[in-house]
Amino acid sequence: MKKQVGIEALAIAVPRKYVDIAELAQARGVDPAKYTSGLGAKEMAVADPGEDSVALAASAAARLIQEQGVDTSRIGMLVVGTETGVDHAKPVASHVQGLLKLPRTMRSFDAQHACYGGTAGLMAASEWIASGAGAGRTALVICSDIARYGLNTAGEPTQGGGAVALLVSEQPDLLALDIGLNGASTQDVYDFWRPSGRREALVDGHYSIGCYLDALSGAYRGWRERALAHEVVRWGDTLPSEQLARILYHVPFCKMARKAHTQLRQCDLEASAATQNATPAEREELAKSTASYEAQVASSLTLNARIGNVYTASLYLALAGLMNAEAAALAGKRIGLLSYGSGCCSEFYSGVVGANAAQRIAKANVEGVLARRERISVAEYERIMNLASDAPEQLAPAPGEFRLKEIREHRRAYVAG
Ligand code: HMG
Repeated sequence: MKKQVGIEALAIAVPRKYVDIAELAQARGVDPAKYTSGLGAKEMAVADPGEDSVALAASAAARLIQEQGVDTSRIGMLVVGTETGVDHAKPVASHVQGLLKLPRTMRSFDAQHACYGGTAGLMAASEWIASGAGAGRTALVICSDIARYGLNTAGEPTQGGGAVALLVSEQPDLLALDIGLNGASTQDVYDFWRPSGRREALVDGHYSIGCYLDALSGAYRGWRERALAHEVVRWGDTLPSEQLARILYHVPFCKMARKAHTQLRQCDLEASAATQNATPAEREELAKSTASYEAQVASSLTLNARIGNVYTASLYLALAGLMNAEAAALAGKRIGLLSYGSGCCSEFYSGVVGANAAQRIAKANVEGVLARRERISVAEYERIMNLASDAPEQLAPAPGEFRLKEIREHRRAYVAG
């Protein structure tokens, strides 16, 4: 039997505070419907300087290890996908190794390519295991980021922060990956970037949406070609994309998943013999299908709507949200996943939901993690945004979590709760 490889379990960590997105809109003199309906947001996570990408990554990984009973001695690879790391040389992964006392014998590194870095890490880990190079060991892949555009910017309502830790192994209880079918698309574009030394990202917002959709098309077509060749999907009464039970997208804001789904359907409709005689307008109507969006996408967005963009972790928050909503019903079914990182690189891949997915996600208690958060006012959010990144407030971390305590002589010190 072919070796199964994929995601065995996951855990999430989020900043302790959030703002209500309608309240933020009111404070900015914007119709709240623009943020809630136009962007699809409900709440936005607010990370304070103590909750940096190291603290969030370590908190998510500690929770994964504790809740899922992970045997840390079997971890042979640790990858952190992040674009908001804390040092140009020393990786977030090295901090996580130290804070969690993970094996000295493992390989560790950070993967950076904007929001795609987490998927790059997941693929490096999965293919390492599938190739046999892992010799039966497991991998820990952590996606950790803080999305920050700044006060009074167009990107402000699409900020957020958090981390998702993934255990990757030959026992893919959550999602067994279809190794070898992935499609990718890469292009040199300036859609979103953050020059060294800047805290806030720069973005050409509307252009970035076009880059995402263009890269999605290339990645999806690559996957579809291989999936058709392996008879994982086929041209028939339904479109190839309709044969995936659910499709998860990179979610910089929830409405983007809807635009992405329309684009994906366009790729199928343009290539389908059944719609060759349709006019472009008729094809566009079919692509926009609300029924298809509701059936294949909507249920994955609940966490993203309450947290905001988490760059590398956004796609994996959608996976956590989908599993939390529907794991039992999806057992044995194939889903598609689209990762996008500005700059840009996109990858479409697929996998089959495991029979034990419901038990695994129940242990992750994602609702419980969000329920412990505190809603803050817009004034308090603005105060936190204006704090210096190297002078964290001395707050006690919650049990099992980590915070940045201080930076002395350029060395960061963390405290565990
Ligand atoms: P904007 O220009 O302020 O907003 O910025 P808009 O005018 O485009 O309006 C947004 C939506 O709200 C539109 O819907 C409006 O119609 C609607 P659409 O037409 O697009 O469907 N709207 C309303 N709806 C109801 N009631 C109203 C109302 N008014 C307007 N009264 C933008 C929006 C997303 C560009 C901005 O927030 C931004 O720049 N965000 C950051 C960039 C971003 O998220 N890009 C996404 C693609 S790139 C990516 O995903 C990579 C990334 O994650 C980074 C990485 O890879 O590391 C960002």
